[in-house]
Amino acid sequence: MNLSTRILLHIREIYRSLFSWVPAAPGTVLRWLAFRPLFKSSSSFRIGPGVFILGFKNISLGYGVALNRHSSLTADRGYINLGNQVYLGDFSIISGDDGEVRIGNNVLIGPNCLIQAANHRFDRLDVPIMDQGHISNRVLIEDNVWIGGNVVICPGAHIGSGCVIGAGAVVTGTIPPNAIAVGVPARVIKFRG
Ligand SMILES: CC(C)(COP(=O)(O)OP(=O)(O)OC[C@H]1O[C@@H](n2cnc3c(N)ncnc32)[C@H](O)[C@@H]1OP(=O)(O)O)[C@@H](O)C(=O)NCCC(=O)NCCS
Repeated sequence: MNLSTRILLHIREIYRSLFSWVPAAPGTVLRWLAFRPLFKSSSSFRIGPGVFILGFKNISLGYGVALNRHSSLTADRGYINLGNQVYLGDFSIISGDDGEVRIGNNVLIGPNCLIQAANHRFDRLDVPIMDQGHISNRVLIEDNVWIGGNVVICPGAHIGSGCVIGAGAVVTGTIPPNAIAVGVPARVIKFRG
């Protein structure tokens, strides 16, 4: 990373930190005013205190998105698209880096979840894993999904509309519409309705 990129990163971090600690309604209003022009696209949204965002220009937020306390969105080298009324729980992380995370409308994501677009490469034995780069991929979560607390959604996962993902699950593949899936790896135990 060259010097000018480093300086830019520090300036961005200072700008974000100026507003991120402010509590309650004044903080929500300040963050809306300060961050709205930075997103690729957005309308009304609510960002709680301590939220961390990198790569605003690659992030689109639909109407009524709520990013709760200490959650984070990172998309410096990728994309995040959140539909209308997406709720991201406290301390949850969405990383679109080296790929894309696309989430539909009316999606509820519990606390402490991790949604990650890309994996590290690890095929070479002569190079440290951290130096091997990433395998680009994407995560797709369709409309009207409820994801419980402490869920991990791995690169390549596709969760169909109307699904419920139980607390603590690790989703690695495709979950069909309206399924209730639990466990590690997540398996369908029944269907809604
Ligand atoms: C997935 C969930 C919605 C299932 O609710 P349900 O339909 O009432 O399911 P049941 O309680 O009847 O459980 C059915 C089976 O799945 C198991 N199960 C339920 N939730 C599970 C979970 N999260 N992980 C592993 N197994 C689970 C039950 O033990 C039961 O197993 P059994 O048939 O062998 O006895 C619920 O258990 C859950 O995980 N909710 C998320 C809560 C949460 O994280 N809230 C905060 C975020 S907003």
